[in-house]
Amino acid sequence: MLLHLPGVLHPSEVAQAQALLAQAHWQDGRVSAGEQAAQAKNNQQLPENAAPAPALRQMLLQALERSAVFFSATLPHSIAPPMFNRYGGATNAFGNHVDSAVRYLPGGQKRVRTDLSCTLFLSSPSDYDGGELVIEDPFAPQRIKLAAGDMVVYPGTSVHRVEPVTRGQRLASFFWIQSMVRSQEQRRLLFDMDQHLMQLRTELGEQHPAAIGLTGTYHNLLRLWADV
Ligand code: NI
Repeated sequence: MLLHLPGVLHPSEVAQAQALLAQAHWQDGRVSAGEQAAQAKNNQQLPENAAPAPALRQMLLQALERSAVFFSATLPHSIAPPMFNRYGGATNAFGNHVDSAVRYLPGGQKRVRTDLSCTLFLSSPSDYDGGELVIEDPFAPQRIKLAAGDMVVYPGTSVHRVEPVTRGQRLASFFWIQSMVRSQEQRRLLFDMDQHLMQLRTELGEQHPAAIGLTGTYHNLLRLWADV
C-alpha cells in the first residue's frame, strides 16, 4: 500500500524547515547506507547531530501526531528519528535499492524494523526538475513528486530510487516506522476497516449498536495482531 498524506506540514513549517536547511552543513549521504545502497547513493544528508536537526525532527514528529490517518495506516510502534537529505548539482540521485531491514539508532541501544518508509517533500515541485521517488512495482511502478509539506508512506520491502535532479534542489525528510502490526495484509485490513468505521459513525452516530460492535471487532483484531 502506498499512502499520500497531503499537508503534513503547514506552509509556515515548510518555510521554517527550508530556512534552517539552507544554512545547514551537509555531508555525503553514503554514511548511512548499507553496502549495496552506498554504491547507488549520490546525495547529501544532514548529520544527525547538526544544529537544526533536533528542532526539525521535533517539528515533524509533532506534525505526525496531528494526523489520524497516519496513525491508522501505520500503527506505529517506533519511529526512527527523521533524517534530511538534499539532491542537486553533482550529488543528485539515488539508484535502485532496498532500505536495510533494521535501523540501529544512535547509541546502539535501540533498533527499528523498517516496515514502512516515509518521504516528506520539503521543496516545491516547481523548484526542481527530476527528483521523482520511483517505487518499483511489477504491476504499476509509481513515480512520486509531491507538494512541499506532503508525505508518502510506502512498504519498506520495495525496490525504489530517486531520479536525478537536473535543475534546482530537492529537500526532503525520510524516516522509517516499525509498525505494531508486522504484516502488510493485516495492517491494510485494519486501515480499511477503520476508514469505513469512521464513515459508519458519521452516518449512524457513535452510539449505533453496529458502530459499537464493529469498533469492538477492530480492537479485538488489533489485540490479536499487534506487538506492543
Ligand atoms: Ni531508500
